[in-house]
Amino acid sequence: MSDQLDRNLALELVRVTEAAALACARWMGRNAKEKADAAAVGAMRMLLDQTEIDGTVIIGEGEKDHAPMLYNGERVGIGVKNPTARSQAVDIAVDPIDGTRLLALGLPNALSVIAIADKGSMFSPGHIVYMDKLAVGPEARGLIDINAPVEDNLKAIAKAKQKEVQDLTAVILDRPRNQKYVDAVRACGARLKLVTDGDVAAGLSTSLQGTNIDVLFGIGGSPEGVITAAALKCMGGDMQCKLWPRDDSERAFAKEVGYDINKVLLINDLVNSENVFFSATGITDGELLRGVHYVTGGAMTDSLGMRSRSGTMRRIQATHRLEKLNQFSEIDYGR
Ligand code: FBP
Repeated sequence: MSDQLDRNLALELVRVTEAAALACARWMGRNAKEKADAAAVGAMRMLLDQTEIDGTVIIGEGEKDHAPMLYNGERVGIGVKNPTARSQAVDIAVDPIDGTRLLALGLPNALSVIAIADKGSMFSPGHIVYMDKLAVGPEARGLIDINAPVEDNLKAIAKAKQKEVQDLTAVILDRPRNQKYVDAVRACGARLKLVTDGDVAAGLSTSLQGTNIDVLFGIGGSPEGVITAAALKCMGGDMQCKLWPRDDSERAFAKEVGYDINKVLLINDLVNSENVFFSATGITDGELLRGVHYVTGGAMTDSLGMRSRSGTMRRIQATHRLEKLNQFSEIDYGR
C-alpha cells in the first residue's frame, strides 16, 4: 500500500455524499428525477474537486455526451491540476442518487454513494447496463456460487449462519427478469423481500448487523454492482456477478472489448484493491440510514463511512447549519 493512501479517505468521502444528499433532498416527492439528479451530481462533483486526490471516474453518470458532470473517464480532485504528495491517483465509482425514482416519489431507501480504490482496480462494465448479482455478508464469504442453484446457495448461507433456510431473508429487485430467482427462493421456503429500486442499499444490507437481510439475488445495474462490491470489501462480505447483456449490441460490445459474458466476476475482479473507501448518506428515510431531516435552522444527515484496510465502519450523524453553509458554498442547499 502506498504511504499516500494511509489516510482515511472515507471521512472525506462522507462530506461528499452528505453534500449530494443535502443538495437533492429538497426534491423529495416532487417527481423531478432530472432536477434532483443534477443537484446531487453537481454537489458531489464540487466536493470531490475539493478533495486531495487525483481521481478518475470509472463508474459515473455514463458517457460524456450524455452526462455533463461525473462522466466515465472524467478526472476530479485537487491533484488533477495541482499534484501534491498526498493527491494519490485513484479510481472512483459514484452514484449520486441510488434510487432516483424512490426520491422522486418520496419512497424509502434512496442513498447517495461513492467508492474510491487504488488506480486501475475498478472493473468498468462499459455499455453493459446490467449484471446478475449474488451478495452475502461475512459469515458466508467464500461459500457462494452464482452458477449454482438458488437452493444450494441458500443452504450454504443457512449453514454458515447456523440458521434454517426458512429463517433466511433474500432481497430481490422486483423485475420480470428476476422472476426465476423469486420462484426459486419461494420454492425453498426462505423469506423474500422484493424491492422496487435500490439494489446498492439491498446489497449493503446483507453485511450490516440488524438488517435481517441475508442475501441479494438478481439482475440489477452494473455500475451499482461495482459500487456494492466496493462496500462489501470494506464490510467483509462477498459478491459474485456475471455480465447480463440485454441485446446483440451489448453482446457485440462485450466481444469487442474482450469480456467473457459467462465469466463469474468475483469480488476482486470487480474491485481489485485492498485499499477501498466507501461512503453512503441517506436521502430518504430507510432501513439502513435515516434520510435528510430538516430541523429549525438546518438539516441532519446520517452516513456510513468505511475503509477496507482497517475494516472500520463509522456511522456519522451530522447537523448542518444551512444558513452558514450558504454563505460560502456554491452549492444551493436551500434555507
Ligand atoms: P438509479 O436511481 O441510479 O437509476 O438506480 C436505481 C436502481 O434501482 C438500481 O439500484 C438498480 O441497480 C437499477 O436501478 C436497476 O435498473 P432498472 O430500473 O433498469 O431495472
